[in-house]
Amino acid sequence: MFSSMLLAVLALAVPNLLNASPIKRDDGDFLNPTLGGGSFLDKSAGLGEPLNVIISAKSSPEVLTLDGFLQYAQTIGFDTECLGLHIGNPQTANLGDGRGDVNETEVLRESFGIPGVGTCLESATGGNHFRVFPQAGTGALFLAVSKEEDASEQHNIIPDGYNIGRDLLVANAVGEHTGFDGKKFKFNTYDTVVTNLTGLLAPGADGINHGIAQDGVIKLLTVTLK
Ligand SMILES: *[C@@H]1O[C@H](CO)[C@@H](O)[C@H](O)[C@H]1NC(C)=O
Ligand SMILES: *[C@@H]1O[C@H](CO)[C@@H](O)[C@H](O)[C@H]1NC(C)=O
Repeated sequence: MFSSMLLAVLALAVPNLLNASPIKRDDGDFLNPTLGGGSFLDKSAGLGEPLNVIISAKSSPEVLTLDGFLQYAQTIGFDTECLGLHIGNPQTANLGDGRGDVNETEVLRESFGIPGVGTCLESATGGNHFRVFPQAGTGALFLAVSKEEDASEQHNIIPDGYNIGRDLLVANAVGEHTGFDGKKFKFNTYDTVVTNLTGLLAPGADGINHGIAQDGVIKLLTVTLK
């Protein structure tokens, strides 16, 4: 009698305990990296940069592919690096997806609206850029976004460059945008919805590359290809 009551109480209590966990997110947008031994900071020479934008796994599947994401990124003002040149070592991230530390898959830079060579301008004058880390299993894309100084400053991050870079990307992305789909010779229209995520990444400069504080807000973008 007593033990069956205890079981009933446990059965009621356990799911509530799970739901109460502040860091649990299992609603299909992404898997919380910290639950699998990972982090919301990537790694660069012992320090890290905030993974401050996440492209939700609930986005259209096309957007979560390498080609499809590049088309989306081009539509909101970014492109591959100038002449395929890459400055600096790849950063790594552990997204808690069982793979441990993996290299960024690419770096995309602000293109100043000039297809093809616009990112050469970014490399010379500085500007916004981000590193891409896809999460295995969910397909969500974790981005480390920051705004840089020009090349004479060795591509350091500008003051407040994590928050500024993230907010510039989001400002470009929100709402509806139409861009050229280079492969199929048609135009794609994307609708992007933004959600603030707090309580996942600690605000401040602790462990952050260049000692630049960030506000701890992660922007979740859900991108729908219309
Ligand atoms: C990550 O990048 C480094 C430097 O380019 C390279 O030596 C290493 O093999 C890469 N790791 C993987 C798993 O691709
Ligand atoms: C989202 O975060 C930004 C700061 O990054 C803040 O200005 C804005 O008010 C927040 N929006 C909501 C709905 O909380």
